[in-house]
Amino acid sequence: MEGVFVSDLIQPVRERAKFPKRVYVFDTTLRDGEQTPGVCFTLEEKMEIARKLDELGVDVIEGGFPVNSEEETETIKRIKGLGLKAKICGLARCVTADVDACLKADVDRVHIFIATSDVHLKYKLRIDEARALEQAIAATDYVKAHGLECEFSCEDATRTPLKRLLKFYRGVEEHGADTHNVPDTVGVMEPEAMFSLISTLKMELKKPISMHCHNDFGLAVANTLAGVKAGASQIHTTVNGLGERGGNASLEQAVAALTAMYRVKTGIKLGLLKEVSKLVERFSMIKLTPNYPIVGDNAFAHEAGIHVHGVLAKAECYEPFAPEMVGQKRRIVMGKHTGKHAVASFVREKYNLSDEQIRAVVERVRNLTVSKKKIVEGDVVAIVEGVLGSVPESERAAELDEVLIMTGNKITPTASVQLTFDKSKRVAAGVGTGPVDAVARAIQSALGEEIKLLNYKLEAISGGTDSLCSVEVTVEDRNGKTATGLAIGGDIVMASVNALMESLNRIYSKRR
Ligand code: KIV
Ligand code: ZN
Repeated sequence: MEGVFVSDLIQPVRERAKFPKRVYVFDTTLRDGEQTPGVCFTLEEKMEIARKLDELGVDVIEGGFPVNSEEETETIKRIKGLGLKAKICGLARCVTADVDACLKADVDRVHIFIATSDVHLKYKLRIDEARALEQAIAATDYVKAHGLECEFSCEDATRTPLKRLLKFYRGVEEHGADTHNVPDTVGVMEPEAMFSLISTLKMELKKPISMHCHNDFGLAVANTLAGVKAGASQIHTTVNGLGERGGNASLEQAVAALTAMYRVKTGIKLGLLKEVSKLVERFSMIKLTPNYPIVGDNAFAHEAGIHVHGVLAKAECYEPFAPEMVGQKRRIVMGKHTGKHAVASFVREKYNLSDEQIRAVVERVRNLTVSKKKIVEGDVVAIVEGVLGSVPESERAAELDEVLIMTGNKITPTASVQLTFDKSKRVAAGVGTGPVDAVARAIQSALGEEIKLLNYKLEAISGGTDSLCSVEVTVEDRNGKTATGLAIGGDIVMASVNALMESLNRIYSKRR
């Protein structure tokens, strides 16, 4: 597969596997994903996520558990009303009221479930196996009598004796169930065992098999893939792996692996994965860890010297596939592991500098890595600008002569500045939401023009209240000219003022 650099050792695995022609993605971000502690999507958010999931190409959207509330039913109905390509599904226990709520929500598919393991039957449902089977069959009949698709789950399937599991799946199949979903409810499976279980089910049952894996041991995606290798043709996933406890199988990871490792087709437009992940991150307010595979911020970031050198020479050295394939971008992060060589080649690649200028940039980047934890591209840009366009002392348009800042409880942060601008002295004052804001306003007022603050980044370099900090400021003038200033110091406010003055002088220098 072009642009994919996975191991050749997978080839025999691909040949042995009983992959289906295409894998259908059943996304449960809006149902199991919303069961993540602390996550609660609004109606509008659910509709927007559903639209995005549809654009992404998922086949089924589980919109929620309608019997939960009138609002939940209404939300699913509204999602259905969007007229998406994806089928809309609602969850229901094997009881009439739950299925009725799904009917009211106007879903295409009802996902009915009943627990089948000993522990669930005995302690949670307090019914015996025969009663549970009766309920499963009655619910299947009820769904099918209303002409809807029926997906059936044995909850806690992976802790249910195989004979019993087969009895339930066969029973509902005979009554018209369309899909057999196999939930690893507590995430207690491992790939070999899952392969074996799904192979048996596949042999014994006629209807398509679906995977629903939880991530309690971090194996949800591996178990999902093992099921697909054994012939399961549908996978339940959530965006960003949201879900109860350790979460569900991550849509991004499962689909990327199916495509890149196994070359199995899905309907997913991989290029939208990052965008969808970001949207769900924002609405769920669950921030992804930077090292989250496929869509995390560091998934295609390189810092260590050897890696940066290798990736710049040939991306394949340290990337399994091009970041653009999943809507990501490669990032080179300069840090203490970045060798001089790597910094030089990074800078050479991006800017047209002389060898002497490159040496100067490398030197400054290296010095900065001693005090700053993470050097991002913006820092390098500021350094390059500094080397290229360092505004000589004599040519600096604005010089801050004096600054006085007052802040505290019960007073509005206020600053007064005296500065020299084009050789004339100017004095002004400003108030703001904080000391930095107040001084920025005072400086702008002294200069007599409004400058837009595009970016303000503050980073503590070491722990403790006496920590050094680094501030990066990017400004834009009324003509759209932008410049970045960088300053380091022990005083947050003064480092911010210095970074701002640096960026302003760069703007004036660019104008000239
Ligand atoms: O994990 C689980 O068992 C479930 C069921 C409702 C299918 O989410
Ligand atoms: Zn689940």
